[in-house]
Amino acid sequence: MAVEKFPADDPNDPYAGSGLPALGLRNYWYPVMAAWRLGRKPRAVSVLGEAVVIFRDGSEVFALAERCPHRGARLSQGKCLYPGSGTLTCPYHGWTFSGQTGSCVAKLMEGPDAPGSRRIVTRAYPVRELRGAIWLFVGDIEAPPLEDEVPEVLRASGEWHGFSTWRTYRCNWRIMKDNLCHDMHAPFVHRNSPELMFQPVFPFASRLAAFPLDDGNGIGYVAKDGRPSVDYPGLGTFPPKNETWYRLLKPTGRGKEIDLGAQAVVKHGVKFRQSSLMPGATFIGRPSGNYFALRWVTPIDAESCFYYSWSLFRRQSWWRTLRERAFWIFWVSWAHDWLFSDQDKRILEKVIVGRESHSRTDAGVIAWRRYAADHARRRAASGAKSAQTPAAE
Ligand code: FES
Ligand SMILES: [Fe+2]
Repeated sequence: MAVEKFPADDPNDPYAGSGLPALGLRNYWYPVMAAWRLGRKPRAVSVLGEAVVIFRDGSEVFALAERCPHRGARLSQGKCLYPGSGTLTCPYHGWTFSGQTGSCVAKLMEGPDAPGSRRIVTRAYPVRELRGAIWLFVGDIEAPPLEDEVPEVLRASGEWHGFSTWRTYRCNWRIMKDNLCHDMHAPFVHRNSPELMFQPVFPFASRLAAFPLDDGNGIGYVAKDGRPSVDYPGLGTFPPKNETWYRLLKPTGRGKEIDLGAQAVVKHGVKFRQSSLMPGATFIGRPSGNYFALRWVTPIDAESCFYYSWSLFRRQSWWRTLRERAFWIFWVSWAHDWLFSDQDKRILEKVIVGRESHSRTDAGVIAWRRYAADHARRRAASGAKSAQTPAAE
């Protein structure tokens, strides 16, 4: 799908003046691929419109700009010719770059005394491996520690077990992230999904409010007074009777605030069942504090995004771990990560971007757009490296 380009002040562009750029928020960490997919061959990825090559040398992972500054060959077609040196060699004329600094350490076709090699520096990206994913920091400021930027459940690997999946969506990251802002699409789009047969269905017609999180990294959503069904004069009942016969459980208060005594709050400080985190992640909590889901939207370019999703269970006993793993493999992986998200994918990839008419259900989307724009890190105004937020661009 081609993303329409609007002039900055076009009233038909729902994101005009929103402060949320089409290519994503810079100066944040993003998951870009599953770590196991990075073997001995370098891999090319595109993040926030930038072409990057990621490679391994022993236990270390490095990331450089994909384009060789010599004559533009792709470094992902090159090789780590000297294992242990942390370098990558271009496939075309053998220029060899340090993965750590990006500087050209040798021009293999010109001898060790080739003039000017060291003055040539390509871009090196901060890169890390965490919780089964390769993470890249894309930006213009010094990268903060990745551990400080992700929820605690992603860091404490001994305490949690789980799975991750990923998909590419052919839509702009903002459309994908808006979909995860508790906009009441779920009780509609997913009402017939196999997953909801065995879950209390989401109530609808609830009032939604958004609150800033204590750690200043996002907003949490609270939905109140949802209704399981309602009559529309002249139309009939929603959900229609012929769609409800297979529902096994009655709707309950999904989306409500987690009560303050719940383990999720006491142990992990998670106060909301659903929250949006910078720079475009969604955190879903259970009051038990024993299960959390994290979904991270990584912009690829203006027309597509990468969706990385973790399901994390707290380790309790070996048999419980076994049961949870079986549950994920035989149920969640297809009922949720495949079928359920396919229902969104079909719609999101076809959205026609233009002027929007907002309604009550958009409170979460609007709150997120505003929050993200107000809190997004910007390039340091003076050109000095700074992690302060926000500074005018
Ligand atoms: S293009 Fe890379 S070495 Fe020539
Ligand atoms: Fe959905």
